[in-house]
Amino acid sequence: MSLQIITTADGSHSLLNTELNETYHSVHGAIRESQYVFIEQGLDFWLSKHPERDVRILEVGFGTGLNTLLSVLYSANKNNHFFYESWEAFPLGADVIERLNYAEQLPAVDYFQKLHSSKWDLKVELTHHFSLLKRKANILTETFNHEHVFDLIYYDAFAPSKQPEIWAYDALKRVTTALTNNGVFVTYCAKGQVKRDLRTLGLHVETLPGPPGKKEMVRAVREH
Ligand SMILES: C[S@@+](CC[C@H](N)C(=O)[O-])C[C@H]1O[C@@H](n2cnc3c(N)ncnc32)[C@H](O)[C@@H]1O
Repeated sequence: MSLQIITTADGSHSLLNTELNETYHSVHGAIRESQYVFIEQGLDFWLSKHPERDVRILEVGFGTGLNTLLSVLYSANKNNHFFYESWEAFPLGADVIERLNYAEQLPAVDYFQKLHSSKWDLKVELTHHFSLLKRKANILTETFNHEHVFDLIYYDAFAPSKQPEIWAYDALKRVTTALTNNGVFVTYCAKGQVKRDLRTLGLHVETLPGPPGKKEMVRAVREH
């Protein structure tokens, strides 16, 4: 995998996969995009509806760990318990991770080191109320453990133009089957086919304003 570190508009880093010609985040601000799409429109939305409940999050695409880091930071002043399972088919090397500036930008040096040094495929207690399970596995082919159900899904794969199979009906079905009643699926992608497939899968789909540089994003809720 050929990767270049880039600096996005809010000063935070992202990665450019030069083979796919695809970045891991928006060039208009990596932290800004992740905070808005996944934390504000996903995690904060879900907790505003269920303030007393513990939350189980599934992320597709661990990548740089930015969404995980923002979720840990968000959890710091909450009383709920957070279980966070993140799947990654192509883990980044330590040489790339240690050059990313999220720990300094946020700042969150301890959490950043801890979540990246935690072992793959082993549930660890990142804080006393945040458990992390990083799965080194391909979400499209690995057997999905349906004992695990999720209240919230962060769907953060590469764009449909670069990775169509992960946005296809079968993949969306596989992942959203793990969503509880009232569970929420959020993604930066607002492609018509993705919205139609989510509706066919029984989710209530909302098109929301996107983060800077992007007109729209999607939040879908399982209502039954
Ligand atoms: C847009 S990047 C975002 C990553 C991450 N959320 C972040 O903030 O850095 C997409 C990620 O999905 C991973 N990925 C692609 N296909 C996958 C698959 N089939 N199963 C699991 N992860 C996959 C990629 O390797 C990449 O790390």
